[in-house]
This record gives sequence, C-alpha cells and structure tokens, in this order.
Amino acid sequence: MSAICLIRKFSMKSPSRFHRSLLFSTFSKESPPDLARNASIRRPYSSSISGQSFVSPSIWRFTQPNWISEKTRSISVFSLRDFSTSIETNATDKSFERIQVQSGLIVEKIHRNEEVTLDESVSKIDVKEIEKSGDEIVETISDGKVREESEAEKEAWRILENAVVRYCGSPVGTVAANDPGDKLPLNYDQVFIRDFVPSALAFLLKGDGDIVRNFLLHTLQLQSWEKTVDCYSPGQGLMPASFKVRTVALDENTTEEVLDPDFGESAIGRVAPVDSGLWWIILLRAYGKITGDFSLQERIDVQTGIKLIMNLCLADGFDMFPTLLVTDGSCMIDRRMGIHGHPLEIQSLFYSALRCSREMLSVNDRSKDLVRAINNRLSALSFHIREYYWVDIKKINEIYRYKTEEYSTDATNKFNIYPEQIPPWLMDWIPEQGGYLLGNLQPAHMDFRFFSLGNFWSIVSSLGTPKQNEAILNLVEAKWDDIIGNMPLKICYPALEYDDWRIITGSDPKNTPWSYHNSGSWPTLLWQFTLACMKMGRPELAEKALALAEKRLMADRWPEYYDTRSGKFIGKQSRLYQTWTVAGFLTSKLLLANPEMASLLFWEEDYELLDICACGLRKSDRKKCSRVAAKTQILVR
Ligand code: GLC
Repeated sequence: MSAICLIRKFSMKSPSRFHRSLLFSTFSKESPPDLARNASIRRPYSSSISGQSFVSPSIWRFTQPNWISEKTRSISVFSLRDFSTSIETNATDKSFERIQVQSGLIVEKIHRNEEVTLDESVSKIDVKEIEKSGDEIVETISDGKVREESEAEKEAWRILENAVVRYCGSPVGTVAANDPGDKLPLNYDQVFIRDFVPSALAFLLKGDGDIVRNFLLHTLQLQSWEKTVDCYSPGQGLMPASFKVRTVALDENTTEEVLDPDFGESAIGRVAPVDSGLWWIILLRAYGKITGDFSLQERIDVQTGIKLIMNLCLADGFDMFPTLLVTDGSCMIDRRMGIHGHPLEIQSLFYSALRCSREMLSVNDRSKDLVRAINNRLSALSFHIREYYWVDIKKINEIYRYKTEEYSTDATNKFNIYPEQIPPWLMDWIPEQGGYLLGNLQPAHMDFRFFSLGNFWSIVSSLGTPKQNEAILNLVEAKWDDIIGNMPLKICYPALEYDDWRIITGSDPKNTPWSYHNSGSWPTLLWQFTLACMKMGRPELAEKALALAEKRLMADRWPEYYDTRSGKFIGKQSRLYQTWTVAGFLTSKLLLANPEMASLLFWEEDYELLDICACGLRKSDRKKCSRVAAKTQILVR
C-alpha cells in the first residue's frame, strides 16, 4: 500500500469532523483560499520571504536528528535580538495583497532537509558540547564542567523520543501519554498544544528544532479550519486543544495521513482551548530565540497566524476590564473548577503572548494599529493585575476593613468585595513575608486560591512588578510544604471541599479535594517554576524541588499528577508515562544547566509600558486618570 503525504489547503466548509479527512483529499477550487498562508507555503524550502536569506534552522543543530549521536560538534548560534518593539522584514503588505488574489492549492512537505550552511552574520555562543561515549551522554557546559545525565534523565529521554508523533514521516509533536496499561486512552493519544511546550523546549535545548518547527507550521494550518459546535463557529484564529494523525483509506490500495484537530468540539465539557493560541505564540518566539532561525516568525503565513490570534484576543466585547474574559476550563485546568471570568493563568499567558507578538510582528502600515492596540492592552493589563490582583498580609488587612457599596469613580473597594469573602484559611496561611496574585477577580468576587502556573508565569513574563515577583517566590518558600510537599507542584492551593466542591465543581468525581485539578500536584509545572526561580536569581529553590521529583518520578513511572494534601500518592486516575511530566523534568534540568538559554525565555520589566496610558485624561483635567493616582500605591520598581 502506498501512503500519500500531503499538506494542503483546507476547505473552509467542512460539514462535519468525520468527513474532514475525505474533504482533505478533494482540493476545493471554489472555497476561499487561506490567503496569506499560501504565499510562503508555495516556497516551502525557502528561508526567505522576498529574496533575502535568513539563518537556516539547521545551523544551530548541534546533534544529529536523533540527537544522541556519535561525537557531535556542537555549535549553538544565536541571533542576539533584543526585545525591540518592531522588527524589520521584507514582508511588505504589498506582497501580502498580491498573494491574496492568488488562489490555488497547496501540496507541500513542510519538513526541511536543508544542507547545513553557517551564516557568518549571526553571533555565535558556544554553549556546550555533547558527546556520546559508550552509553553515557556527557554534556560539557561552557565553563568546562562536565554534567552527566542521571538514570532518570536517560529514561526520560527514551520516553520522550517514544512519544514523538510523525506525520508523513516527519516529527510533528508528542502524544500526551504513552501508558501501556491504559485501556481507555480517551484523547491522551493526541498531541496537545499546551502539553507539547515542555517537550518542544527540551528538544530545542538539546539542539533539535525540526520537530518544533514542524509543529508550529502544522498547527498553524489547523488554525484555518472552520470549526463548529452545533452549527456555531467560534472565532477565526482559534488554535485547537489537540490534534491526532489519522490514516484514512483513499481506495483499496492507498492510504493517506491526515491531521484531525479538536477545537473543543469533542473535548469533555466542550471547553474552549483559549491557552492554545497563546502557547503557540510563546513557543514561536522561544523557537526563534533558541535557534536563531527568525525566518520562521517572519514568514507571511506565520505573521498572519499571530495577527489572527491577537485579533481574536483583542476583539471588542462587553468587558469592563483589560483582562481576557473566558469560560471555565479554558486552560490547563480544562474542567469546571470555578475559574471562569478572568483567571490568572490566562492573563499571564495573554500578557506574554502580547509581549511576544509585539516583538515578532513586522511593523508596517497594515499592522501598526494592531501594534498600538497591543501596547495599550499590555499597559492596561499589567496595571490592572499589579494593582487589583495582588494580595499580601497588608492588602488582606485592607480588604478586611473595606467599606462596601461605594458608588463613585474613586471608590477604594472598586469591585465591591465583601470582607466576609476572605476565607478563614487565608488569615492563618498568609505569611509575613511574601504575597501572590489572586486566582481570579470579578465584580464582588475574589478567588483567593493560589494558582501556581499563573503566578509563576507572571514572574517569567514580568506581569508582576519586580517586588511582587520576588514576594511570590518568598511565599512559595514560606509555604513549601503546602505548595511543594512531597511532589512539586500543587496546581492550586487549597482544595475546594464539602459544599464548595459540590457547588463549584458540580460534584466532579475526578476533581475531589486534593486530587487532579482540585489541588493535585503536577510535576510538569516544574519547568515553569524553574524558569521563574532562575529569573529571580534563586535557582536553588528549583534545584530543591527538582531533586524531590527526581527521587520519585522514575520509580513511580512518570505520573500525570499526585494526590493528597502533601502530594504523597500517585493520582487516583493518573495516567502513567505522561509526556509533559517527563518533558517538564527534562526541561528543568536543561534550563538549570544552561542559564544563558533560560535567560532567552523570560522577560525583564518594560519601563516604557508603565507610562503608556490610553485614557486620554491629562493632569489638568477635572477628572483624573485613576492609573496616575494609583501609581504611588503599586510597587513599580
Ligand atoms: C488533562 C489536563 C490538560 C492536559 C491534558 C492532556 O485534560 O487537564 O491540562 O492538557 O490532560 O495531558
């Protein structure tokens, strides 16, 4: 049987998921082409947009494709781009228009097998050498120290490699879990966008960028699917939660591989994967930073992908706040957990996706309004989170004494929070030193739970102020037993119990107290914690957490999550050989061993942003800008 491997124009009219694969095989002439995308796809092997050559991704590859290679010369090459707000490319809007009128069908294999060519114009940093001597993998870090991989690391790499999913022969992602004992894998045999991020970073840090590049381009193609849930289509630009490679028979002798995405229309609870597009943008930037291959982000189809996601996030709605309004379960916690509204995890990912987009979007006449909107949103969002989400002992005391029902523009208690809402556990729990960002904020509602990912990513992206970021880590240190315990890291703290569990989760038997999303411990969160610690100059905290994980993960067969208040037991319904557990562990190890690389993945404070204010009120106006008034209170520096 011969297998046909094609990437092609998706029909914008797909009557049902089940027929997509068939539609795949029929090139639709009348359907609107996926305009800008076609442009660069037509030149699949070109690393330039209009003639000018960019750095080939191959140049930084310091291992062979199967990366555990014979003695390999290792050169890591970076283009040391700073955090500029604009980048010059040759992708003019003129060419974009020209491409728009082109129709036609795409037959392409995105995976590239280019020859290695070194571009001398790119700055080089020798990071490390990787050698294979016998079965031992030895890394020589730039300062000459030798780091040997532990047994757990070696096993982790084997598992990660086994988890790789291929499409038409090329690696395009990793399955969520590869548990041989799992008789009902549900969708754990799919490539999840969010789950792939730590895998991608592990591969990138090890010198293999092909899989990441393929993943980014293939998921970009999926973005243009028309998706419907009961005849309703969510916004253009939505990225799927996951995808699967399926083999379909074309006729008796021929099969074809197709990518089958899930935008939430099959997901349990029909949750919207809001975080997927945000992670995609974050990964795109990371790919450029680590490989030095900026040609990918400069491609017109990729630029269009960024714009579509940004437009979707920045669309006007009824919202009163700069935070992104989402339904419950729209991120890593993809079940009902009372995180609808403005959950911190989404806000921190949104903030860093805005920063990434500002950095990657080519500025020209057609994108300048979007860039302006991004800048305004960044500024308003960081103010809002810093000012209203922050809690420490002092702030809790203020809330405790709040007056309520204040009707005015200069109310202190703007959200009408009733002090009775402060949960009793918090009064005892909050340490003298340290603080954190609230889980969620809505009218008359503060969610006081501590959510790890949102807080760590606020540190990484500089959504929090430098002092707040420091204080979050102080809180983790002070509350080590609650947040780390026997296994890093609690997804949130504390658990919803009794009536709260019944009412807020809807009596979810998977999210019982101290299990799964309801305060279970998720080892994958180690990589975000590690990055946050490294940014704040506290790698020892990450090392301590990593050592705890390393003691158990291999013996426990790499579980998805752990249960109980102290994270002592493997989760009740936990998958084993969960890929992002493995990848989170490896990425933490690699980040700690390569601080220069880690520093490419976080953001410093942007002081210019603090001064942008779009409200138009001047100092002399009768009505004062509330942000200017509040600046004295927020800990800016
Ligand atoms: C669960 C998790 C989700 C993850 C998926 C695949 O649904 O809640 O965050 O992406 O499993 O691992």
